[in-house]
Amino acid sequence: MEVPPGIDPTKAHPSRRYNYWLGGKDNFAVDRESAGVVASAFPTVALSARENRAFLKRVVTYLAGEAGIRQFLDIGTGLPSAGNVHEVAQSIEPTSRIVYVDNDPVVLVHARALLTSEPAGRTAYIQADLRDPDKILADAELARTLDMSRPVALMLVATMHFITDDHDPYDIVARLLAALPSGSHLVMTHATKDHLTAEEYAYSVEANERSGVPFRLRSRDEFTRFFDGLELLPPGVTSVVEWRPEVPEEERPSVEDVSMLCAVARVP
Ligand SMILES: C[S@@+](CC[C@H](N)C(=O)[O-])C[C@H]1O[C@@H](n2cnc3c(N)ncnc32)[C@H](O)[C@@H]1O
Repeated sequence: MEVPPGIDPTKAHPSRRYNYWLGGKDNFAVDRESAGVVASAFPTVALSARENRAFLKRVVTYLAGEAGIRQFLDIGTGLPSAGNVHEVAQSIEPTSRIVYVDNDPVVLVHARALLTSEPAGRTAYIQADLRDPDKILADAELARTLDMSRPVALMLVATMHFITDDHDPYDIVARLLAALPSGSHLVMTHATKDHLTAEEYAYSVEANERSGVPFRLRSRDEFTRFFDGLELLPPGVTSVVEWRPEVPEEERPSVEDVSMLCAVARVP
């Protein structure tokens, strides 16, 4: 991949590493090396990425369809890939409006592919950091694209595990939710440590440190805390594999191999 101006190709970044696990070409050697270090602790990580992406499509289909959600705030968008949020939502409801947010400059370079809205709807891209949620909420592009008096689906899909405890992850989510009206939804997926032995967990922490990308595995209880005060929708906190699955159980990968929790909740 050619290195666009302003991009540091010597530093691994989660969007490009995820792109590599999904079989994409928008990644550098440093991202593939980082991916290898993570895979030494969690060999099924590419499977987990694919299952996470499949969940994203199912959940947007549910929100745009059954739940009647017309506005999406997708933070930690990742590089454009098959089935971007606006493509899935607008295939169901062309008036859907989507704001994408990511802090990786490589995503900005590719953002054109996220701005292919149906004429009846609208999409926008904001280059911003989730660790500064007030800045995201104050962005003029957000105000131009979303009507914050109407329900919004806040999507934090495979993103919160990059927010380490020193950045107060629960406060970040609470600040974002406080800006959304009743009837809004929170969608989150998050890598979990639940299926690891103490020894595997210790190795995983060490490998993530070595991979050059800050990462925080959380337990089911730690994950569930993000939804305090919200109404969890069935089936509650579960593995992405088991959330409204489209294939029979015997064709699904194991919950342990994927190790990714998810939940959808409504703002009361
Ligand atoms: C694993 S990808 C997930 C992409 C997409 N949400 C999905 O699930 O298919 C995580 C994304 O979060 C972004 N990200 C990580 N930390 C972030 C931060 N502090 N602010 C904004 N985006 C961040 C990364 O750049 C990356 O694109």
